[in-house]
Amino acid sequence: MKIAITGKGGVGKTTLAALLAQVYADQGRQVLAVDADPSPCLAGALGFPDELRAKLHPIAEMEDLITERTGARPGTIGGFFTLNPKVDDIPERFSVVFRNVRLLEMGAVDTGGSGCICPESAMLKTLFTHLLFRKDDVLILDMYAGVEHLGRATVDFVDHMIVVVEPTRRSLGTAAQIKKLANDIGLTRLWLVGNKIRNPEEAEFLHRETPGLPLLGIMPADLSVQEADRLGIPVYDHSPALRQAAQEMVERLATKEAA
Ligand SMILES: Nc1ncnc2c1ncn2[C@@H]1O[C@H](COP(=O)(O)OP(=O)(O)OP(=O)(O)O)[C@@H](O)[C@H]1O
Ligand SMILES: [Mg+2]
Repeated sequence: MKIAITGKGGVGKTTLAALLAQVYADQGRQVLAVDADPSPCLAGALGFPDELRAKLHPIAEMEDLITERTGARPGTIGGFFTLNPKVDDIPERFSVVFRNVRLLEMGAVDTGGSGCICPESAMLKTLFTHLLFRKDDVLILDMYAGVEHLGRATVDFVDHMIVVVEPTRRSLGTAAQIKKLANDIGLTRLWLVGNKIRNPEEAEFLHRETPGLPLLGIMPADLSVQEADRLGIPVYDHSPALRQAAQEMVERLATKEAA
């Protein structure tokens, strides 16, 4: 099962990615969580202890590894490098595991075909495609805000794409854009998740104004999310309300798969 989480900046993608990863891990599933944000935060939301976090480095920033695998040093212009470097050992070698969640930090990913043709993008694109091809039990992709990552492989292998929104028109506007881009390339398994919902009116607003995306779940606004971050503990442990919301989403996805 491969789940990609997207949405506008700051809406709660990382919070949801951490919650879903831990729900699946606690069900005994093998989970690989991938942080594809240029400034990674998923380890924090999952409550990874400092000594494990110290072992994590975004692949995008591993210049020696990229040089070794592609044949050219990041930042160099011209010259030759391979467009399909060896990456199959990377998910295991450069990830760390905590509470049954394996976490890999990728760094900025541009897989949409735009952007530079350079060693680091060749490396990340190949790795991203490899992750989508792998037979992981559960893959959770915490995507960078934006929609550039909706490449061909995403359409073929992502089972569910979740668009996280806050109860604002702006946030729903981004969701509508994502939906259009996703549909343009043939991806239709899209869901909406409302986050930071303070009252029934805000929930109702989402039901009414959704850009035609089925609502997978609602996560209440809960100050313990920020508190968990301050305390360095998993959101999953600190916010029973969000944990329950995530558990319900996983149940809904399971029935959807069976359908
Ligand atoms: N349900 C919630 N209640 C209260 N605060 C929340 C909730 N969900 C997320 N937050 C807070 O909102 C902020 C953004 O959350 P998060 O990092 O999960 O969003 P994001 O979409 O991953 O952001 P970015 O686009 O920067 O990666 C954080 O400070 C987080 O603590
Ligand atoms: Mg994030």
